[in-house]
Amino acid sequence: MNELDQLVAEARSEFGQAHAPAELENAKARYLGKAGRLTELLKGLAQLPPEDKKLRGAAINVAKQQVEAALNERRQALAEAELEQQLKAESLDVSLPGRKRGVAGLHPVTRTMERIESIFASMGFEVADGPEIEADWFNFTALNTPADHPARSMHDTFYVEGGHLLRTHTSPMQIRHAVQHVKRYRERLDAGQSMPDIRVIAPGRTYRVDSDATHSPMFHQVEGLWVGENVSFKDLKSVYVSFLREFFETDDMQIRFRPSYFPFTEPSAEIDMMFNSGPLKGRWLEVSGSGQVHPQVVRNMGLDPERYIGFAFGSGIDRLAMLRYGVNDLRLFFDGDLRFLSQFK
Ligand code: DAH
Repeated sequence: MNELDQLVAEARSEFGQAHAPAELENAKARYLGKAGRLTELLKGLAQLPPEDKKLRGAAINVAKQQVEAALNERRQALAEAELEQQLKAESLDVSLPGRKRGVAGLHPVTRTMERIESIFASMGFEVADGPEIEADWFNFTALNTPADHPARSMHDTFYVEGGHLLRTHTSPMQIRHAVQHVKRYRERLDAGQSMPDIRVIAPGRTYRVDSDATHSPMFHQVEGLWVGENVSFKDLKSVYVSFLREFFETDDMQIRFRPSYFPFTEPSAEIDMMFNSGPLKGRWLEVSGSGQVHPQVVRNMGLDPERYIGFAFGSGIDRLAMLRYGVNDLRLFFDGDLRFLSQFK
């Protein structure tokens, strides 16, 4: 084998050992690069006498063409191997089961809230929203619960800077909403005219230091308030009974107003209900606090308690959701377990 054939054979073998494009380019440089073996041979032609130049030049060119052909062949092979690899990696196993994209659904508490809102809206109630970080004044003092009042101890909560706290109930919305309402009709009131009734519900998150199967440190309440010149306990009863019948889609229940105490109502009542059939049949369940708005609270709303009177209630939304859906542990609502939540879609 002459020297040129030997060179071509070596090039072919080196190309064959290159398994990545970069390696192949390095091997190419060793033959065809600026200082490559073939390039050096071509440079060497200059020293030869003219009659040898032609023959030798032609032979080197043949070798060069063979090296280039070997190079291209290897390039092609590497490109094909890469494509093959890629196809393999991206291949789809069409026999695998499909990946389902689940349909999202509303949280059961959100559903319950929307249901409550639409029932009360149908009875002419506005829906109001307020802050969860509340001032002491709205959460307690304005609701006839001064700093030394024993009822405060049942409302242990988280205090933040500046005398603010996580609201322990939605009742502060009574004051907030009424004050806004009164402000809107101030001129009419000052002229001795009357204003439209305050009729509002305020659903939202509330907080207390409490945690067991029926209490969560974060829970939901809905506040209701109806204040006017001629609103009585009888209206509370009819509104609340209509609400419960609508909410549970049945009249097959008993409802009782049990005397109770709240600083911001006088008289006060706890509202209990009992289903006459179904799995919860025969058990009294407490669903709401309520009462006639205390004169001091009416005053704090900016109204004259000799002229304005009304009722309020505060109900546990999560409790209502538990009853409606037959859930026995309140914490399930807030654990975020999809096996539970996906049942409400
Ligand atoms: N805010 C009371 C609580 O969380 C519930 C309540 C009782 C609200 C009587 C009222 C009411 O509006 O009139 O314990």
